[in-house]
Formats: sequence, C-alpha cells, structure tokens
Amino acid sequence: MFRSHTCGELRESHINQKVTLSGWVQKTRDKGFVVWVDLRDRYGITQLVFDEDRTASALLDQARSLGREFVVQVEGEVIERASKNANIPTGNIEVLVENLTVLNSSKTPPFTIENETDGGEDLRMKFRYLDIRRNPVKNNLIFRSKVTMEVRKYLAEKSFIEVETPYLIKSTPEGARDFVVPSRMNEGQFYALPQSPQTFKQLLMVAGMDKYFQIVKCFRDEDLRADRQPEFTQIDCEMAFVEQEDILNVFEGLTRHLLKEINGVEISAFPRITYDDAMRIYGNDKPDIRFGMEFAELNDVAQHKDFNVFNSSELVVAIAVPGAASYTRKEIDALIDWVKRPQIGAKGMVYVKYNEDGSYKSSVDKFYDQEDLAKWAEATEAKPGDLICVLSGEMNKTRTQLSALRMELASRLGLRKPNEFAPLWVVDFPLLELDEETGNYHAMHHPFTSPKPGQLELLDTDPGAVRANAYDLVLNGNEIGGGSIRIHDKGVQETMFKHLGFTPEEAKAQFGFLMDAFQYGAPPHGGIAFGLDRLVAILGGQETIRDFIAFPKNNSGRDVMIDAPAPIDQEQLDELNLKLNNIEVTE
Ligand code: AMO
Repeated sequence: MFRSHTCGELRESHINQKVTLSGWVQKTRDKGFVVWVDLRDRYGITQLVFDEDRTASALLDQARSLGREFVVQVEGEVIERASKNANIPTGNIEVLVENLTVLNSSKTPPFTIENETDGGEDLRMKFRYLDIRRNPVKNNLIFRSKVTMEVRKYLAEKSFIEVETPYLIKSTPEGARDFVVPSRMNEGQFYALPQSPQTFKQLLMVAGMDKYFQIVKCFRDEDLRADRQPEFTQIDCEMAFVEQEDILNVFEGLTRHLLKEINGVEISAFPRITYDDAMRIYGNDKPDIRFGMEFAELNDVAQHKDFNVFNSSELVVAIAVPGAASYTRKEIDALIDWVKRPQIGAKGMVYVKYNEDGSYKSSVDKFYDQEDLAKWAEATEAKPGDLICVLSGEMNKTRTQLSALRMELASRLGLRKPNEFAPLWVVDFPLLELDEETGNYHAMHHPFTSPKPGQLELLDTDPGAVRANAYDLVLNGNEIGGGSIRIHDKGVQETMFKHLGFTPEEAKAQFGFLMDAFQYGAPPHGGIAFGLDRLVAILGGQETIRDFIAFPKNNSGRDVMIDAPAPIDQEQLDELNLKLNNIEVTE
C-alpha cells in the first residue's frame, strides 16, 4: 500500500495514528537538530518531521539528502505541531517519520513549483507536466473537470444522449481552414479534421436520436488569440422538433445550472438583444454588459455646426466614461494616441469633460457652446465628473473603434469584474455576410442555418437584409456559444447553397450526403455549441483559455513540449505518396 491518506487529509483528529503517505518533496528545511520536509500531492501538503531526539541518525541523514521533487513514501505517526500554520488545512499536525523510502529521485526542476513561479511561459510549456504540479494550473484543470461533470449531469437529466462522431471526415465549412490528414489507402486523398461535428449532429437528428450532445474536440486552422486554440473543445448539442425558443430555454438552463453549482451565483432570465441593437448600442456582437457606457449617437445634436469632421461623418457616436473628467491633459492625449494606433484605427477623438461644477470643457469648444455640449451629456447619460469620448466616421468602423475604447476603459477602471457574471443572448443575426474583398456573400454562422420564416424570398432581392434563426450566448463580453435552427428541407438547402455561390454540382459533391438524408424524413431541428475552454475560463474568472487546457499550443500553434508540428520521415512521405517538392527550404 503506497498510502493510507493523502497529503491534504490529516487533521488533529488523526493525532497518534500511524499513517503512510506518498508524494513529492516540496521543500526541506534543515535546522541541524531537526529537519522538516513538506510533502505534496494533488490534495495538499503535509509537514514531515525528523529530529535528533526521536529519529535514528541514518533516517535523519536520509531526510537531509532529499532533493526538490523527489518522490517518497513515508510511514510515521501523526503528532501535534508545536508551531501551527493556519494557512493550510493540515497546519495543526505533522508526521513524525519512522520509515522513508525514496520511490524516485528528481533532477532539479527548471522552475520553482510554487504558486508564483520564476519560470517564463515558454519554459513552463516545455515542462508542462511540472507546471501542472503548481496549484494555479492544477486547480484550473480540476475546475474544468468539475464544469464538464456538471454539464453531463444537466444534459443527462434532460434526456440528452452522448454520441461520438468521427474525427476523420470531409471538410465542413465553418469559416476557418481545415487541418487535413492524408490517406495512405486512398492515394492523393485527404480527410479533414472536423471544425465541428455540425453535419453529423444533423444526421443524428434525421436518425431519430432526438437529443444529442458530445463534449468533443474541434480543429480549426486559424490565427490564434487568447481565446482561440487550433484544437479546442465544444459542448456540442442538437435537438429535434424544436424552435429557437426551446433551444434558448434548455441552454439558458444549462448556463444557469453551471453558474449556480460552480460559482454559487443565481441569475434570473438572461436578457436578449438583437444583433442590430448590439451593434448600435455596444458596437459589438458580444457585448460586455457588466457595466454601462452605452453608445449614444450624436448625429442630430453634433452635425451642422461648422465642425467638418463631424459633418462629413456617417456616424458621430459617444460614450460617457464614469469619473474620467479628472484625467489630465497627458492622460487624454495618451487615450487619443491609443485610439489612433493601427490596431484601432480611429483618426482622432473628440472629448468633453463634464466638470463637477456642471460646466463643460471640450476639445471642440470653438464649434460647440455649453448648451450644445449639454445635449451630448444628456444623450450619453453623463454625470458631472464623467468624460465624454466621441468618435466619428464610417458607421461600422466607428462602432468597432468605440467598442474597443469602451472595453479598454472599462478594464482600466476595473469595471470588468471577474467574479460578476452577465450572460445574454444575441439573436436575429444576419444570415449572410458580405466579404468586402471578394464582393461575395458567405454564411455568417454556417450554410445550414435557416432564414427567419418568410425571409427566403428576400435572398434574391436584398440578401444582406435576411435575418437568421441564429443566436449566440455571450458571457462577460465573450462569445461562449452559438447555434441556430437548421434548414431541414432539401429544396431550401439547395437554394441556400446557390446563394452562397455553389454550383449544383459543387453542392452535391460536398454535401450530397446531407441533402440525400433530407429526403428521408428530416425532422425540424436546431442546436448550439458552447466553447468549453472559454466557458471554463470565464467561470474561473479568467479569459486566457490556455491556462485551462492541460497541454495547449502556443501562439504559433506549436506544442513546444513534444515539439509538434514536425517533419516526417521520407519513408512515411513515400507511403502516403506525398511529395514535398513545392516546399522551399530557406536558410
Ligand atoms: P461556432 O463556430 O460558433 O459554432 O463555435 C461554437 C463555439 O466554439 C467556441 N470556439 C472556439 N473556442 C476556442 N478556440 C477556437 N478556435 C474556437 N472557435 C470557436 C466559441 C464558439 O461560440 N457548429 C456550430 C454550432 C451550431 O451551430 O450548433 C459551431 O461550431 O465559444
């Protein structure tokens, strides 16, 4: 038996008991006549004691020779500690060791296995198995497991069944590039790894499975950010015989269940906002509504006053930043520089200080008097002490810029509180999105999303105006889930493909299997997929999903621990009939 208890388990009630513990040496303190060793496992730390009075000298020497991260087993007696440590649950006791076995030695780890480590990101990723020994990472993984368990519990309770779908498939268009896998047995042909199980879950509805879910890996070859990984996990769900309302209810229920069980937070009905309103009020289809600073459009009150910048703009739009009238000239200039950075791209920023005494001081006093500025304050619902920031220009761009400013200022002002949760549904998404480079429309969600009832005809005349039965679940400014009611009619699906620029032959070659299936009694159906990594990170009060993934990839899509991706042998290439003659080797 390696252990009778874990290192996080022993309390005063165990005093006088003989115990066996196994774990890693966190640290050793040698005071000459007494040696203490902190023994760590997943559950906690227990202090071991060896002293000259009670411990044989050979054993004392053995304790002194232990290095950090050695794996040891000890037998001994639980005793009361002379000086207690209230910071850890086992802090009232220690184990007087009678027997010590070194199960394995360890090289000195390349960084300290402490909550605050001296290891940089790259080093920690290279030795991720050591990083996971540290509490913050370990706790994130335990947290993730708890969330997944609760998801399974809720969905099983609602009669969902978990079905696995294949990873070696044909590409499904979800907007990103595919990772492809060459087939040895089918020369010159490739599988694609699924960007999501979208078509399979729809086929499961045709197959009568009724309520499906799967906690599933998805693969997308896209540029990486804090909230994106090339392989990530979805809680993928689909239901038959449902309308949008049914889906929203079930998955609002799931989110509420998680917030309650995991975070102890009870939230009533989630607000719903249309895509159009989200863009107008927050400049963003995933608004963070934990704080106000809603957009106010100032065209009516700010145009036609000799200020040409505004007069020539499609949109003049502002936010009131709470308490920021006290910003110095230098701070405001820095803010203007911030919006002018290429990543944001604003040409400039007009500001109004709404002073505590009720007066206004603006950067455009030449053009606007106090009465004009009072109207801006009214529109933005500014209070004395606030700073009104105004951007102008082309509508969509300006909204995006002001949205970035709103989020940045909210972060600076501490308004994005990690332990506060504000979920909402964004509904009525456009069905199609215009690709400005090619001038073509593509599906905003995916090509299987159904248009709102009665809007199919609009596809011919005004495709950009067609709204979809599509919805996103947004939590604290992050898109944590998205889904739609699907097309279940072959003819409608064919029309949709036509509008997306597929010839009938192309549509048949890529999606013939789905349209065939629609001829055999496809029920009305719809679903949603949550990004599990994002959901877990946000419930955990963070936004970087990497910290909640055991073995993540870095920003270049590399796993630096196993050193992947990597070249493969000529033999393997030959077997796959792959020739790399179009790859240029650069020095
Ligand atoms: P969608 O593409 O919106 O929908 O994806 C669903 C959710 O998955 C998460 N997500 C990601 N998380 C981490 N890294 C990524 N690279 C990444 N990409 C997406 C997001 C997103 O909301 N088949 C549809 C769902 C459906 O219609 O039912 C789909 O995949 O949180």
